[in-house]
Amino acid sequence: MLLLHRAMVLRLQQACRLKSIHSRLCIQACSTNESFQPQRPSLTFSGDNASTGGWRVMGTLLGLGAVLAYQDHQCRAAQESTHIYTKEEVSSHTSPETGIWVTLGSEVFDVTEFVDLHPGGPSKLMLAAGGPLEPFWALYAVHNQSHVRELLAQYKIGELNPEDKVAPTVETSDPYADDPVRHPALKVNSQCPFNAEPPPELLTENYITPNPIFFTRNHLPVPNVDPDTYRLHVVGAPGGQSLSLSLDDLHKFPKYEITVTLQCAGNRRSEMTQVKEVKGLEWRTGAISTARWGGARLCDVLAQAGHQLCETEAHVCFEGLDSDPTGTAYGASIPLARAMDPEAEVLLAYEMNGQPLPRDHGFPVRVVVPGVVGARHVKWLGRVSVQPEESYSHWQRRDYKGFSPSVDWDTVNFDSAPSIQELPVQSAITEPQDGETVESGEVTIKGYAWSGGGRAVIRVDVSLDGGLTWQVAELDGEEQRPRKAWAWRLWQLQVPVPAGQKELNIVCKAVDDGYNVQPDTVAPIWNLRGVLSNAWHRVHVHVAP
Ligand code: MTE
Repeated sequence: MLLLHRAMVLRLQQACRLKSIHSRLCIQACSTNESFQPQRPSLTFSGDNASTGGWRVMGTLLGLGAVLAYQDHQCRAAQESTHIYTKEEVSSHTSPETGIWVTLGSEVFDVTEFVDLHPGGPSKLMLAAGGPLEPFWALYAVHNQSHVRELLAQYKIGELNPEDKVAPTVETSDPYADDPVRHPALKVNSQCPFNAEPPPELLTENYITPNPIFFTRNHLPVPNVDPDTYRLHVVGAPGGQSLSLSLDDLHKFPKYEITVTLQCAGNRRSEMTQVKEVKGLEWRTGAISTARWGGARLCDVLAQAGHQLCETEAHVCFEGLDSDPTGTAYGASIPLARAMDPEAEVLLAYEMNGQPLPRDHGFPVRVVVPGVVGARHVKWLGRVSVQPEESYSHWQRRDYKGFSPSVDWDTVNFDSAPSIQELPVQSAITEPQDGETVESGEVTIKGYAWSGGGRAVIRVDVSLDGGLTWQVAELDGEEQRPRKAWAWRLWQLQVPVPAGQKELNIVCKAVDDGYNVQPDTVAPIWNLRGVLSNAWHRVHVHVAP
């Protein structure tokens, strides 16, 4: 009986497949929308490139394979469309072994067999595994088209439990209860306070990092600031006047827009941990992002409060509106000379990539100090003052400083080291990733490079053999202004994989216009806080046989 049943199901599936190959090919032939062109010729859907004949045949075969896979799903969808799944059930399907499920609205899809066919590459689709597609489709608007929805519909296996669509209620006693909702692609290093970085393959997808995946470094709960009552207090110079600026007042200053890369001092700390334990969050290569910031120049606002450059040392101290249970706010400072220099382009930013600042990134106003460590870009800015000494904030005086590898927590004297301001030259590989298997033939290596203080990146050297031989990568991104190279360069190198090679030790290092180069290993720059981690970046990959 059971055998008979199985035979009948098989027949039914075959019939389903044959009937639908026709309809599927029809969909493919009719689908000519170029904005959804796949990146690899073998996955081509439209087949309008005459020079890729061989690829087209392979594409057709793959397409046929995909057709059969789709139809299995269509049949299954017909049988199972009434299934109700909980969010937990969906979130437990994140691998080829368990099956790879995603949701869109109230619908649940099993996309296991589509993952390898995803035009943007399997890894991008895997970012959504076990969760909703919406945040990714919001990033990649190309998906919002009827033929993409049609294609997805064939993988539908059921509906999401209606109760799971209700947002969970939050504990009001939790100081983090009011934190904003975050993008699920972010790799979370700590939930409370929230610290997260974009996955490497998304980080260098765009020169400008989309706001939802810009890395986030918070020390405290995110304040919820009312833009209508917000005031920025600027303490006036002796003989000058103190200012209490509303958002509208700030908008009345001339507006400047600049592209600036922000990097946390702890970026790539996880590599220092491998040498010896350090104190701090395990940032990988993603505590860095780039945005176009818009706002008023700090020098214009300070001038209105009567400040000017003075010959004695002075510092501009910033206080955030985020505070710990004792009422102590996040704070930091920069030298007055930098703040007053119009060429340094320090901003009181109210816009990030053409939008009001997102809450995680300092709404409504933050400081942006081009070329300087992220810690000085104070978010949720509440107060600005000019002092003869640096900010007394913990984060200025007892953190974000570099020490010799021989200094430990028993011997450290924080007063003996200057606070980090300009960061050293940095670069990292974002594709391929450590442990990945790459195709034999040719490999494309991608990454970012940046240097502090407005120093331009002039070259990125890449090695496939651990640093024995080098090739120069191609630099992409905006041209850099002399002494004002505030933003990173993305880079890539397409190289043949040496014949017979079973693995590659890929290394990158950048050179800036002061001919500063990254150190080759981590151990000599190890420090107890794990900051300034900028050794050559190394990725070990296997080559497919
Ligand atoms: N400003 C306030 N008020 N509170 C903070 O916790 N973190 C700082 C800086 N400004 C912080 C802050 C640190 S250490 C970094 S690296 C940057 O913000 C991170 O900015 P982002 O979260 O917008 O990427």
